[in-house]
Amino acid sequence: MTEFVRVATVDQVPVGTSLKVLVSNRPVAVVNCDEGVFAISDLCSHADVSLSEGEVIDCTIECWLHGSQFSLRTGAPLGPPAITPVPTYEVRLVDDGGQTHIDIATEPTPFSPDGRPQS
Ligand code: FES
Repeated sequence: MTEFVRVATVDQVPVGTSLKVLVSNRPVAVVNCDEGVFAISDLCSHADVSLSEGEVIDCTIECWLHGSQFSLRTGAPLGPPAITPVPTYEVRLVDDGGQTHIDIATEPTPFSPDGRPQS
């Protein structure tokens, strides 16, 4: 059974922004885009820089160093120089005490060979 950890409230991550958190001692970028809240490894697969410092564009995040964009849904790189996907994490939004909280799975979603996350 998937375990979740509470990392923030939605108010702390306005649409179009990201927030770096630690999940099981791994850096994770929590990203709020027009299509919802997503969680993706905070480490770019190209050179291990922080993706949460990049720009949120539609439902992607762009690495600030060399410009690769990563899908927030799958973690797949959408352009060079990165060629390796980054892990994604399941997100649950939980209303509690008048606020919406962001809970993140403690383990990444397994990645399938065709680039789509497996449930
Ligand atoms: S370090 Fe992210 S694309 Fe190069």
